[in-house]
Amino acid sequence: MTTHLIAPSILSADFARLGEDVANVLSAGADIVHFDVMDNHYVPNLSFGAPICQALRNYGITAPIDVHLMVTPVDSLIEQFIAAGASMISFHPEASLHVDRSIELIKNGRCQAGLVLNPATPLSVLEHVIHKLDYVLLMSVNPGFGGQKFIPHTLDKIRQVKSFIQHRNPHVKIEVDGGINTQNIQEVAAAGADMFVAGSAIFNQPDYAAVIKTMREKLAS
Ligand code: DX5
Ligand code: ZN
Repeated sequence: MTTHLIAPSILSADFARLGEDVANVLSAGADIVHFDVMDNHYVPNLSFGAPICQALRNYGITAPIDVHLMVTPVDSLIEQFIAAGASMISFHPEASLHVDRSIELIKNGRCQAGLVLNPATPLSVLEHVIHKLDYVLLMSVNPGFGGQKFIPHTLDKIRQVKSFIQHRNPHVKIEVDGGINTQNIQEVAAAGADMFVAGSAIFNQPDYAAVIKTMREKLAS
């Protein structure tokens, strides 16, 4: 039995009242907080860093914080996010000179470790590290911005990753990120995803609970 986790991306939250907005989306039924870190170097956009993660913890957010690092280099930020209360940390392999070392850093910090594959990144990057990973984050848009359209080819890729992990490390979860909404979440789940990142689909609606409820109904059917 698969447990499906809904992970709102706070990139689309109200930054002026972030703690309250994150608390609201969790009360509305979200499972984990997806925290997109952008550096205007690895991706052409700038978001927020570890002090904001720490601020959410200080505000009283206890849900898992799922840090998605779109930065290069990655290791110094991994250390900062471990100290700031992250629960899960993922990074893009091409952004790290030593992928195995970056994974070890995350694991040594007692966080779950994930590797992120862009739409054009081949599965071969998983070959020698899959036994160390807790999850694979599959990008269903090119990283850098919220509100983009889901790339349909991702569905095939989810199925390929699902088959790959079933043979090598079935404990690995699949998270999918980008363009997920109430219309496509069912087919993303059917392809094999366990965790669903949704930014604009949730935060751009006035009633978060209604969107999350619809998502859960689609996941259950
Ligand atoms: C893109 C980010 C995503 C994005 C999701 O680089 O990693 O998490 O903000 O936002 P939506 O759901 O609006 O595509
Ligand atoms: Zn993300």
